[in-house]
Amino acid sequence: MKTMLSGIKPSGQMTLGNYIGALKNFVAYQDEYEMMVFIANLHCITVPQDPATLKKNLKDAVALYLACGLDPNKATIFLQSDVLEHAQMGWIVNCHTYLGELNRQTQYKDKVAKGETSLSAGLYTYPALMAADILIYDADYVPVGEDQKQHVELCRDLAERFNNRYGEVFKVPEPVIPKVGARILSLSDPTKKMSKSEDNDKGCITLLEDLKSVRKKIMSAVTDSVGIIQYDPVNQPGLANLLQIHSSLSHEPIESIVARFEGKGYGELKKEVADVVCAELEKIQAAYTEIINSGTMEAILAEGAQKASRIARKKLNKVQRKVGIEIFRK
Ligand code: TYM
Repeated sequence: MKTMLSGIKPSGQMTLGNYIGALKNFVAYQDEYEMMVFIANLHCITVPQDPATLKKNLKDAVALYLACGLDPNKATIFLQSDVLEHAQMGWIVNCHTYLGELNRQTQYKDKVAKGETSLSAGLYTYPALMAADILIYDADYVPVGEDQKQHVELCRDLAERFNNRYGEVFKVPEPVIPKVGARILSLSDPTKKMSKSEDNDKGCITLLEDLKSVRKKIMSAVTDSVGIIQYDPVNQPGLANLLQIHSSLSHEPIESIVARFEGKGYGELKKEVADVVCAELEKIQAAYTEIINSGTMEAILAEGAQKASRIARKKLNKVQRKVGIEIFRK
């Protein structure tokens, strides 16, 4: 069975973008692949965090993984920092990553372009840690949203660099990007991605948000003055975004939604999108409450970490041997 691996960095509450672009697909793939899914908590601290809030967001993220349908009997679910090998492999990968490559990563470049100061060294080098996260499990596939594609491509380059220098060390992974919903846009500014960190509150829906507030945000989503319901991401990005959200949750093809709404107004479409989103979130929120009160999360994470550590330790030993930093074979 091929291995698939991915992670989410809950540096805030999990968003509808995280769900549609990533989490929902992890669930869909767990039957088909050896699925490794982790909470990327080491990545969260690349930006300043309030410890108590971070802890709550991490716990919520685990509960949401499960509430959205990840099954610990099928997928290995773990907290990144519970598997110490990630940081060790991260360092080794860091030492094989060029500054020029990190300078080209758009997430870092964007922050610099915006004039943000006090950026941490961790934020700059995090794509190397992300590559280590993937390579340490010999992942074949990495399901991510559009914004992470560049990082997976860097990971591929790094894997090839290792293999050229040391002989076959790493599997070269492939990104898996969903056809619909790979980049969910802000509801208040459809030129930007929906994001927990960069968005104002009106543009971003979180998975645990009050449903009245969710409905209100969708109903007041920014669209355009064209006035025709059609799928045109270039000229009508706000509308295209609503259609993508609908289609990825309802599984109805975009063309079919467009055909049903021929001659109708944006308000009617928004109402249906709100219904679809609220129905999905209602299910997730009910499951979340059950899980958070069930007391099962600790054991699930412990078991996941144990399983992940076994794989990671073996790979790390091999890489350390290949690189020449070990004296006696382990
Ligand atoms: P993060 O936490 O920013 O995002 C988690 C996943 O959600 C997707 N995503 C979106 N998809 C569609 N529309 C959006 N608006 C949207 N916002 C977020 C992201 O593309 C991603 O798939 N570095 C990663 C976490 C990570 C990781 C890894 C992922 C660490 N190590 C190894 C895969 C493999 C991150 O910051 O994702």
